[in-house]
Amino acid sequence: MPSVSRIVLLLHGPNLNLLGDREPEVYGTATLADHVGRARATAAEFGIDIEDLQSNAEHELVEAVHAARGRCAAIIVNPGAFTHYSWALHDALAAFDGPVVELHLSNPDAREPWRRTSVVAPVATGSIMGFGGDGYELAVRAVAARLA
Ligand code: DQA
Repeated sequence: MPSVSRIVLLLHGPNLNLLGDREPEVYGTATLADHVGRARATAAEFGIDIEDLQSNAEHELVEAVHAARGRCAAIIVNPGAFTHYSWALHDALAAFDGPVVELHLSNPDAREPWRRTSVVAPVATGSIMGFGGDGYELAVRAVAARLA
């Protein structure tokens, strides 16, 4: 098992289990498993182990962030629509002591006005959005650089 400092939690919020099928013109045709696999392959280059969880339930994401405290080195999170209103996820991430990358497949700032607010961004180290599946690789590289 890798030491604590090499475990990264990859979290996905609501509706992202439907990737591949859901609005492919916006989110592409790759499945969630494809994206997680890509993150894992990039992480392996850096000796990083990825733990992943997708949930449609806010409390499960909050609890996963709690469980990562003191155990995971960083969190990469695509919160789905929770991005725009989950202060509970905001607070949980604020209590996590490590890099947090906010990740989106699409560019929410270029879409409907209600997507332009992120309550996660203020507690993220940085955000990667609009690069589709490439974002997973970019997010892992960003985390690896911070853990180096
Ligand atoms: C998303 C963007 C969100 O606005 C949306 O609610 C999602 C997916 C993205 O990856 O582009 O579910 O997080």
